[in-house]
Amino acid sequence: KRTIRIGLLGFGTVGQGVWKHLQADQTALEYRLGAKLELVRAAARDLTKSRAVQPRPDQLTDDPFSIVDDPNIDIVCELIGGTTLARELTLRALKNGKTVVTANKALISEFGEEIFAVARESNTHYFFEASVAGGIPIIKTLREGLVANRFPQIYGILNGTSNYILTRMEREGLSFEDTLNDARALGYVEADESLDLDGWDAAHKAVILAYLAHGKWVKLDDMVVEGIRDITTGDIAYAKELGYKIKLLAVIRRDFTQNTVSVRLHPALIAKQELIAQVDEVFNGISLTGDVVGTTILVGRGAGQDATASAVISDIADAVAALLGAPPPIISEEDVDIYRALADEV
Ligand code: HSE
Repeated sequence: KRTIRIGLLGFGTVGQGVWKHLQADQTALEYRLGAKLELVRAAARDLTKSRAVQPRPDQLTDDPFSIVDDPNIDIVCELIGGTTLARELTLRALKNGKTVVTANKALISEFGEEIFAVARESNTHYFFEASVAGGIPIIKTLREGLVANRFPQIYGILNGTSNYILTRMEREGLSFEDTLNDARALGYVEADESLDLDGWDAAHKAVILAYLAHGKWVKLDDMVVEGIRDITTGDIAYAKELGYKIKLLAVIRRDFTQNTVSVRLHPALIAKQELIAQVDEVFNGISLTGDVVGTTILVGRGAGQDATASAVISDIADAVAALLGAPPPIISEEDVDIYRALADEV
């Protein structure tokens, strides 16, 4: 079996989650994917920090370039975030022929066009399932599952933190500030709080979905983007009285006669019986209306270490299949147990 070697850029919450689950599920994954997997190295800013997940000292480096330039590494997972160093490392890894997997929505929404072109020119792949809605396989749904469709409308909740705040304001009548303080204490709010509170995080994700659905890059400057800072407990109570909830919605509309795509991101009233209105707490929910399939709704965890790691590992699986030049074999749980037993005997 071929060994596929993986390097991680960034060893924060998501990086550690990927490392932890890849190690814990390695044998089963190897059988499912038909390849051996080796976690080679992770790049972290601070090597002295004590972490919940602790690789061997030789598996950590503070030089991310040593990963993108390592000829032995096949797959690079970019999990550092931001758009400066992440862009430089991504472009260099792709030009070096590596397959790149990312969770970086800001980078794709701003530089996706350039990065996708470099991946194509370098004859390699750039996978980004973890960039939108964490554990919900929305990227694969648009690229693969619903590929037969054109989409007049896609809308939904793409930011878990703001949805958590709105949910608690509604349920407990708490003020925005009090709920925000709780969300901060729970570690839900991004270091740059504006991403969650002013709608930018969800706007980045909406740009990516609009591109996948319609093949057009919509600029943030051309979008209405408004967050949840100005929502009061009174607004929420009034909406409730009328049978509505207030949700921070991304709305992507395509007008096929005018051939236009519009993307908006703002708090909206949604009738409480709608499924998307019932997506509460840190969950995300996306409603896709396709001309062939009708309406499909996906709901799941949009953030957090495990849900995001699940999405990154699904991209690693796609990357392995692409490197092997074959779709991954489908092996049942029973077979995995048999193979595992055999492997133990060898
Ligand atoms: N801050 C983001 C959210 C994290 O709350 O949804 C996941 O992208």
